[in-house]
Amino acid sequence: MKITSFDHYKEVYKHSVDQPEDFWAGIADSFLWKKKWDKVLEWNFKEPNIKWFQGAKLNITENCLDRHLETLRDKPAIIWEPNDPKEDHRVLTYRQLYKKVCQFANVLKNNGAKKGDRICIYMPMVPELAIALLACARIGAIHSVVFGGFSAQSIADRILDAECNIVITADGGFRGNKETPLKSIIDDALVRCPSVQKVIVLTRTRTPVAMIKGRDVWWEDEIKKVETQGIKDCPAEEMDAEDMLFILYTSGSTGKPKGVVHTCGGYMVYAGYTFDTSFQYQPNEVYFCTADIGWITGHSYIVYGPLSQGATSLMFEGIPTWPDAGRFWDIVDKFKVNIIYTAPTAIRSLMSFGEEPLNGKDLSSLTKLGSVGEPINEEAWHWFDEKIGHGHCPIVDTWWQTENGGHMITPIAGITPLKPGYASLPLPGVQPVLVDEKGTIIEGNEVSGNLCIRFPWPGMLRTTYGDHERCRQTYFATYPDMYFTGDGCSRDADGYYRITGRVDDVLNVSGHRIGTAEVENAINMHSTVVESAVVGYPHDIKGQGVYAFVVSPNMHDDPELTRKDIMMTVARIIGAIAKPDKIQFVSGLPKTRSGKIMRRILRKIAEGDTSNLGDTSTLLDPAVVEEIKAGAL
Ligand code: WTA
Repeated sequence: MKITSFDHYKEVYKHSVDQPEDFWAGIADSFLWKKKWDKVLEWNFKEPNIKWFQGAKLNITENCLDRHLETLRDKPAIIWEPNDPKEDHRVLTYRQLYKKVCQFANVLKNNGAKKGDRICIYMPMVPELAIALLACARIGAIHSVVFGGFSAQSIADRILDAECNIVITADGGFRGNKETPLKSIIDDALVRCPSVQKVIVLTRTRTPVAMIKGRDVWWEDEIKKVETQGIKDCPAEEMDAEDMLFILYTSGSTGKPKGVVHTCGGYMVYAGYTFDTSFQYQPNEVYFCTADIGWITGHSYIVYGPLSQGATSLMFEGIPTWPDAGRFWDIVDKFKVNIIYTAPTAIRSLMSFGEEPLNGKDLSSLTKLGSVGEPINEEAWHWFDEKIGHGHCPIVDTWWQTENGGHMITPIAGITPLKPGYASLPLPGVQPVLVDEKGTIIEGNEVSGNLCIRFPWPGMLRTTYGDHERCRQTYFATYPDMYFTGDGCSRDADGYYRITGRVDDVLNVSGHRIGTAEVENAINMHSTVVESAVVGYPHDIKGQGVYAFVVSPNMHDDPELTRKDIMMTVARIIGAIAKPDKIQFVSGLPKTRSGKIMRRILRKIAEGDTSNLGDTSTLLDPAVVEEIKAGAL
């Protein structure tokens, strides 16, 4: 939606609150439906039961591909920059992408895939990853993308939870100077996953892989088969608005990651609407989102959002610091990027290299900047603004979550007056509130509380896969009739929102969501560990680091070796992204008489603030606190 002024925003916002159904019907009208809805919205947050655009029929790929074929057929849909700058980049026009998606959708069908199947995708950041998602959507199969940094164990858990019958992967993936043997990791995962009938393997690194007869097939061979069969198109499966589109696993404060479920109609409208509105995308702009498609940002803002709006989406296989810390700026220069959407952790990491990597890079094509994933500190905001945007590019600091499907609180580029560190104001259609501990709504400004949303929006999660009660418990039970985000937040005198970070046991490490309970479970798997407690602490680059207090009375003589073994254990169980930054061995954990770990105390110690630990009189063994303080890292 194009917003023409700040006053216009306020008007539209008011309308969206006064007449939400009318507002959303208007937005949804700009999408392509096979059949329009009978009812815009039905909802209650008690069960919860949320249904948008009931009765409507659609296929999201017709919005992302078919509807652009007439007007944008030769426009680049995806520009792909490889990890190695010496390798050629690739451009897929809308017509070419359409053809490839249809081809691969037919490959899926040839391999037994059908509507409603769950398909696990574990791939590097190559165009075929986007093609795989769209091909699943084309035939009505539900994709479950697993980020390439997760371990075999994590993949197996996700495959089992969703009962996937097909896996799409690659021989390996390149990231910086590392090569990850993706297929071999899948092979390890599949030992535990009898439901998987087929594994489709793309060639990327040409590393040797085991190909199991009857189960494993090469992507390229399967495409050839489709070509020789002479099948060209693949009709888009007709989906109900509330049919599942995808599952994406994300961490919470307890237990294993849960499968957040997004549905076809609402998610399509929300991803497209937010992309268009927040970035105020103009035809012919080149848009570069640096996220990985393994996370929600990549789903909504590399694939579905931009493609549904006919945008050119630039996709990058590598990392910001390889071959050197000027890589993003080389890409901006090379493709004359207009919009770059990245994460504070990347900005802070690049800042630490100084200005040398910026020398000789022409960034004058940039008109808009975006930030996502964690609070952006003022220093990083100003660096982004001055060194990258040269003071004339608005920064949209977009707050949202996997469960939200798309942006919730964010400036609108060029419209909303900016304040560094503030996600600013809700998009039209989003109704945030701050509540106190009891769940009472805090009115007025210059206040802070827990951030909730009191009215549904089309992109919100509908359930957690296979466990609706867990969805209710996690998001809708803390405060009645509200969706609870898990974030703390303040609202300033101008009504601007500033997200202060999670108020639950979820960490945000380099913009990745990690549950402390998950890391503790992994650490406790190590043979010498009796128990552990994991908390976050401020980290200059990562935002938060992982600090583990570990009780390991019978450890190896060499604590350093045990520390490394524990790291390896976490990498095996969850993945390298969850490895603790610090491990402190302790003789016991501070517990109350009822056996509850006093995390508040551990958090303070991890933050290096031991001056005032508050009341420790209720502790079972106060002496343990002194010991932990003395040994703090
Ligand atoms: C945090 C990522 C401050 C927040 C899209 C949220 C942010 C969690 C911002 C969701 C932002 C995301 N400012 N904090 N602009 N964006 N967060 O599910 O704590 O990976 O709850 O979704 O990231 O992380 P998730």
